[in-house]
Amino acid sequence: MTIDWDMLRTEAQAMTKRSYAPYSKFQVGAAALTSTGDVVRGCNVENVSYGLGLCAECGLVSDLVGRDAGKIVALAVVSGAGNHCAPCGRCRQILVEHSADGALIDLPDGPSLIVDLLPGNFDPTRLQEG
Ligand code: THU
Repeated sequence: MTIDWDMLRTEAQAMTKRSYAPYSKFQVGAAALTSTGDVVRGCNVENVSYGLGLCAECGLVSDLVGRDAGKIVALAVVSGAGNHCAPCGRCRQILVEHSADGALIDLPDGPSLIVDLLPGNFDPTRLQEG
């Protein structure tokens, strides 16, 4: 599957305009190509109860699952200023579970494996340990 990184970055940047970030003023947008060939998107949605804010990656995964669009194949996350945005720890766990084998994220040094963002991650096979 061909990955159009420029398109994903553009889609992610466009999503920053939808961001609801009145508290941090830090707008984030995310866009991913999925295994079904779809493009899914998300933006951060903050809350007056600060700890309840949702990251852009959470919105993206909700879009992915709600559309039955398979797994993430390639992901771009950008700030309102157009810079790369590294996913927080919580989002790394969420992203890994919904990423295809070999899924990539656009980082400053180039595309990197999403799974490498979270070495030794807690995965579903661990639940078999009892
Ligand atoms: N944020 C994201 O949406 N994604 C990230 O990868 C990092 C941080 C949001 C959360 C909060 O709304 C704002 O950025 C500032 O932390």
